[in-house]
Amino acid sequence: MHKVSIIGSGHVGATAVYYIAEKNLADIVMVDVVEGLPQAKALDYLHAAPMRKYSVHISGTNDYKDIKDSDVVVITAGIPRKPGMDRMDLMKINVDIAKKAAQAIAEYAPNAIVIVVSNPLDIIAMVTLQESGFALKRVIGMAGVLDSTRFRYFIAEKLGVWPGDVMAMVLGGHGDSMVPLSRFTRVSGVPIQELLDDETIEQLINRTRTGGGEIVSLLKQGSAFYAPGASTAKMVEAIVKDEKRVVPVSAYLRGEYGYNDIFLGVPVLLGKNGAEKIIELDLTPGEKTALDASAKGVKEGVETLRSFYTPG
Ligand code: NAI
Ligand code: 2OP
Repeated sequence: MHKVSIIGSGHVGATAVYYIAEKNLADIVMVDVVEGLPQAKALDYLHAAPMRKYSVHISGTNDYKDIKDSDVVVITAGIPRKPGMDRMDLMKINVDIAKKAAQAIAEYAPNAIVIVVSNPLDIIAMVTLQESGFALKRVIGMAGVLDSTRFRYFIAEKLGVWPGDVMAMVLGGHGDSMVPLSRFTRVSGVPIQELLDDETIEQLINRTRTGGGEIVSLLKQGSAFYAPGASTAKMVEAIVKDEKRVVPVSAYLRGEYGYNDIFLGVPVLLGKNGAEKIIELDLTPGEKTALDASAKGVKEGVETLRSFYTPG
């Protein structure tokens, strides 16, 4: 049985555990700084095992040592957004948390693939990469899977079709300038341009870009967690089953798409070794301009990071 550790047992972390357990993907260790919280949630999940018929073991701990030899570690620790906050506003607190988590992963789970979820995603992924010292393909961020599933859902809702039949690709940073690519979005192979007019597609793109914010405004405290938990579990599944899925993840770029030394959402081949290959799409000038704008936002985030943080 594989071992997956989830650092941060709050909304997203605990929801990811739900989906991982339901699919019997791996034994799970839930970690949190709050005493009793991960232990309680793990026990609560185990109580449901006879009914839900999962056979994985789930434990809770406040000690990073218990992530020992995990195959996958997910970082969801940190604080979420409040209304009016940008993901970048979370940077300082979450950088400190990710730093400690990444150092612990390097010490106790040196062979793990790390999925970063905490925001600002593309920046926290950078800190995790630098603090862990891991190979580039072994540290990836979860954002594109979530942003794409939102786009897929909005299209399905508009067309009245089964959401699973919609396939979509969203690139760029995990911010409001993300780039949903309508040209690569299809319903059972049919390009959405055949099914929807340009104005409607543009509206759905905009709703996708602000999809996280829409939930933050409705919730009034905290941010989305069901779809983020499911997106994280999908990535865990691709890794532990070595599925070689083509999904957008935040990956560290060294020249791909013309960008260097930033994490940015791009399609990758996801398998047991992490982001095994970055897939470079041939973008139109308009798509590239939109991706440039998104990359610029991430680069500005990296500059902010550099103003208070040096690796190590
Ligand atoms: P939450 O507040 O429900 O849970 C965070 C948990 O982290 C809390 O239980 C807290 O005690 C724990 N924590 C804090 N410091 C820790 C440490 N040093 N070690 C271990 N645990 C620690 O927040 P939620 O809703 O689960 O969100 C978590 C993060 O994920 C936020 O930064 C949020 O913005 C981000 N997020 C990212 C998404 C994405 O698409 N990448 C989607 C949704 C949320
Ligand atoms: C989301 O997109 C807040 O990043 C989080 O829901």
